Amino acid sequence: MDPADFYTGIVAELYGPLKSFSQDPGPYAAFVRRAGMPALELGCGDGDPLLELRRRGLEVDGVDSSADMLDRLRRRADEEGIRATVFHQRMEALRLPRRYRAIFLAGPTFTLLPDDDVALAALRGIRAHLAEGGTVLVPLFTPAPTPPEQIGRVRTAAAPDGAELRVSVVAEQRDEAARTQTTLLRYERHHRSDSSVVERPWILHWYTRDGFEKLATTAGLTVTAVTDPDGKPAPAGDAGLLHFRLQAA
Ligand SMILES: C[S@@+](CC[C@H](N)C(=O)[O-])C[C@H]1O[C@@H](n2cnc3c(N)ncnc32)[C@H](O)[C@@H]1O
Repeated sequence: MDPADFYTGIVAELYGPLKSFSQDPGPYAAFVRRAGMPALELGCGDGDPLLELRRRGLEVDGVDSSADMLDRLRRRADEEGIRATVFHQRMEALRLPRRYRAIFLAGPTFTLLPDDDVALAALRGIRAHLAEGGTVLVPLFTPAPTPPEQIGRVRTAAAPDGAELRVSVVAEQRDEAARTQTTLLRYERHHRSDSSVVERPWILHWYTRDGFEKLATTAGLTVTAVTDPDGKPAPAGDAGLLHFRLQAA
């Protein structure tokens, strides 16, 4: 399966109910207000934080490679009376009708791009869609390996129709040289006599700070700041979530 299609089918259906953590919209709202509008969220999924930013009156479009996730976003937008323009595209093959003052990903979604070549194509597309004076925000982290005792442990949630939803890690491979971790996840949905079970590889690909800066330079961008999510400068070697800000070189 192509990594850009991971969040489709049962995975998209289970994403909302099994979600354990939502990105705080605050830093993204602040970023859009400072960088200017229109803004674009890449990998907007089922609408967090895009819908909250729209609710706050910010002009933000979205892009996602999963039609199923975008369907869920549109349904939530309709239910809440929010208008949102979203595009079904891959961020490594962006072709949008306008340019943006602010382009961002919420949380470390950029690490879903499976290798440096795909990441470079995404950065080139971002550069091509950046308006004059525009700013890019890319959050990045180095994922930790899943602790051995958590392999096989099942997380459950209830679906709106009463089905039992389950997700667990089946196995994991980590390649430090390629900066890639592949986690085999099992998604299950059980409802009365109906059961569906799907296993999918979830790939995360990470960067050294220098390596990401070089890729950005190759794409015609310059890293102007590296901070923690609250905007405080991140010291070299910081292993947490880092916010990279970029502008046209
Ligand atoms: C972890 S979800 C985050 C969604 C949402 N921003 C949130 O925080 O709930 C990552 C999203 O990125 C999308 N995605 C993954 N690879 C992509 C790609 N190559 N191009 C565009 N979107 C992609 C997935 O379809 C998924 O909806």
